[in-house]
Amino acid sequence: MKILGIETSCDDTAIAVVHAEGKSDHPVFKVLSNVISSQVETHAEFGGVVPTLAAREHAKNFTPVLQQALTEAGTKPEEIDLVAVTTHPGLMPALLVGVHAARAFAWRFDTPIVGVNHLEGHLAANLLDPSVTVIAFPAVALIVSGGHTQLVLMRSWTDYKILGQTRDDAAGEAFDKVAKLIGLPFPGGPPIAAYAAKAPVGSNWTGTNGKAFPRPMMKDDTFDFSFSGLKTAVLYAVRDRYGTVKSPDIPDDEKATLCAEFQQAVVDVLVKKTARAASEYHAETVMLGGGVAANAELRKQLGEALPDSTAYLLPPKGLSVDNGAMIAAAAYLRWEEKPQAARDEANWRNVTVQV
Ligand code: KG4
Ligand code: ZN
Repeated sequence: MKILGIETSCDDTAIAVVHAEGKSDHPVFKVLSNVISSQVETHAEFGGVVPTLAAREHAKNFTPVLQQALTEAGTKPEEIDLVAVTTHPGLMPALLVGVHAARAFAWRFDTPIVGVNHLEGHLAANLLDPSVTVIAFPAVALIVSGGHTQLVLMRSWTDYKILGQTRDDAAGEAFDKVAKLIGLPFPGGPPIAAYAAKAPVGSNWTGTNGKAFPRPMMKDDTFDFSFSGLKTAVLYAVRDRYGTVKSPDIPDDEKATLCAEFQQAVVDVLVKKTARAASEYHAETVMLGGGVAANAELRKQLGEALPDSTAYLLPPKGLSVDNGAMIAAAAYLRWEEKPQAARDEANWRNVTVQV
């Protein structure tokens, strides 16, 4: 079947057409188009996403993005077999635009429609790698995005339990806030990773109190996380070293070392807890999802921390961040499990924003 995947939960208007076949334990996906219209420039001056501006931009961009996604896939609207749209979690004004446009499409073309959990989408992104076929469960998944940091125990794609999550800032949020502090653009993950990659080997950026950045909650017994203290530690270190936190004048090489030290602190905590969860729950598979899953050091170091016998899945490059293809894939996994009666109920009247 051909699925139209729609994602507007945050600051990307993202629509894809995905061809899907096979049972949910062995699905085969082909991404026919994957269009993402980023709003980064709209939100850049605010250092974060402004919900009402996001909604305005989604409304403006939705139809052109939809047209492009259908054209690139060589698909007519009548040929779409299923509409998939993110209904939660996310920014309410932003979600409303995608959900209501999806309902209108489903009504106009009499297409079944299902609401999708954005985080399930991030995990389903792993299945868009054509080399991934069968997934062995139980699996442990680390979801790291701008809004969420969660460790999830999965018994199947639709049967899962949250083992732990952040008690304050999400991992991506920490990247974004630290980037803002040191004058790097939003979103902060990519520029911090780029600076970190240039850091001189062996240097240790420790601030004036002689301590490296903390690894919050790394050694406690829970699977929860906390990143706001780490962000504050970076802020204090910058203040102590440069005498101000307002546009500090940080030389490029020191910025690189700071980024590397901060990134390593985040990666250490994420890797340690994920590897411990995998071992405790005898995970056959470990998978990553969410925008921070694009981080090369996290991808590499988590892989190194897992035993060779554990399958290790990563979303294909470019599909870690928000996109419509992952929403289409997540919808298919749920759709395949639905009995006919539930499929008959999958119409636009029953799909609303879930926040
Ligand atoms: O999943 P996503 O696209 O949107 C949300 O659902 O939040 O994640 C966006 C987050 C941002 O915080 C961004 O800074 C982070 O992902 N990110 C990265 C990298 N690329 C994106 N963080 C670390 N390293 C990266 N390479
Ligand atoms: Zn996301």
